[in-house]
Amino acid sequence: MLPLLLSLLSLLLLPSSSCASDFCVADLKGIETPAGFACKKVSSVTVDDFVFTGLGVAGNTSNIIKAAVTLAFVDQFPGINGLGISAGRLDIAVGGVVPLHTHPAGSELLYVVHGYILAGFISSANGVYYKYLKKGDMMVFPQGQLHFQINAGRKTAVAFVSLSSPSPGLQITSFALFANSLPSAVVEKVTFLDDAEVKKLKGVLGGSG
Ligand SMILES: *[C@@H]1O[C@H](CO)[C@@H](O)[C@H](O)[C@H]1NC(C)=O
Repeated sequence: MLPLLLSLLSLLLLPSSSCASDFCVADLKGIETPAGFACKKVSSVTVDDFVFTGLGVAGNTSNIIKAAVTLAFVDQFPGINGLGISAGRLDIAVGGVVPLHTHPAGSELLYVVHGYILAGFISSANGVYYKYLKKGDMMVFPQGQLHFQINAGRKTAVAFVSLSSPSPGLQITSFALFANSLPSAVVEKVTFLDDAEVKKLKGVLGGSG
């Protein structure tokens, strides 16, 4: 009886009594697999793994798209590993745009907190769904769909997003086409654009070839 009591007592008094399945804070030094990162040892997990402080600050919109996307994906926020969620912040200056892009692994909810945004997506059946959104409006972009956000007002627009994966991915279509070294002749063939336009876009977006 006494040994049993002692072992029960020691269980209650264990310092890190978190169950292995409570959470799996990402060990960012390890490799990422489709199932996420391996877990950090519970003994080295701290509250800061579950807190992300970067979304209160406006991103720098002095760039070619006049917009900033601040990500709280698992790489920035290890506590969300394995939880099926992530977040982000969009700052879009006047005239700015978050160009056509996809998140291959997650759906996105966008919530406008400042200004006006023209947002939309193009489905795989080429259905077009777009709308002017104002403060307080929310729109969902289903997983994998091409979508965009454009500042439609006269002041900076701000929105917060949440995504249904800790690692939803982000591929910007124009960058995929014109910001790499795929030979221009191939890009022209697969986009139906002429040589001058392809070379111009490669020049603007940093592509070569
Ligand atoms: C914003 O980015 C631009 C271009 O990279 C840079 O020149 C500028 O210093 C940045 N501004 C701030 C406040 O970081």
